[in-house]
Amino acid sequence: MQLHEVVPWGRSLDEYRAMFALSETDQQGRLLGCGDGPASFNAELAALGKSERLVSVDPLYFFTGPEIAARVEETYKTIISQVKRSHSRYIWTYFADPDALGAARLQAMKIFLKDYEAGRAEGRYLVGALPELPFKDREFDLCLCSHLLFLYTAQLSVDFHLASMLEMLRVAQEVRVFPLLDLDLQRSAHLAPILAELRSANFHADIVDVPYEFQKGGGQMLRVNRRP
Ligand SMILES: C[S@@+](CC[C@H](N)C(=O)[O-])C[C@H]1O[C@@H](n2cnc3c(N)ncnc32)[C@H](O)[C@@H]1O
Repeated sequence: MQLHEVVPWGRSLDEYRAMFALSETDQQGRLLGCGDGPASFNAELAALGKSERLVSVDPLYFFTGPEIAARVEETYKTIISQVKRSHSRYIWTYFADPDALGAARLQAMKIFLKDYEAGRAEGRYLVGALPELPFKDREFDLCLCSHLLFLYTAQLSVDFHLASMLEMLRVAQEVRVFPLLDLDLQRSAHLAPILAELRSANFHADIVDVPYEFQKGGGQMLRVNRRP
């Protein structure tokens, strides 16, 4: 990964709770976030001290805090003007307007950056990339993947999606992915073939409504686990 290709844009713990319908029990278990980037999910949840284990894995964590902070600075205005241009594609209830969205994202990334060095030292931020994860089988109860799979349908092949889903299911009992829409706000073309493959491999796979909809029509996650 090259730093100039990175567009750092991270969500909060409150958004993760809503996107993945996280229960208290979910938050107390062994949790893995794949592609958490500069989200404040890990920092905020770690501060509450209730999770048995909490790890985020992302190729971004190859870079230092100041390098990531500089990239946030460089890209922030461009992202916000893109959001302003495509205002009607989003539902403005959770965030009142693009400026409120920008302020929330900057706040999340500030919380992440403040925690980053300590989190790296504690093994909460690990360098790694799907479709291969540096963990043993079933090290985690729940694996979350936000705004990576399905969103980047045009960039990431169906084979990459399947290999990534199977790898997350190798290391965790259950996997949840949000959103299921691509960047054009269409249901990802990879979703149906991935559901079929997972079900034929005897996984239990469901599409579940969640209390978070920012992309219009995007209020659903994929939940997959092993059949008992
Ligand atoms: C749009 S950001 C989403 C960040 C965070 N999950 C959130 O929702 O706020 C996508 C993230 O995926 C990471 N990423 C890209 N390729 C990846 C891969 N192969 N495996 C894991 N993460 C990857 C990027 O570095 C980036 O941090």
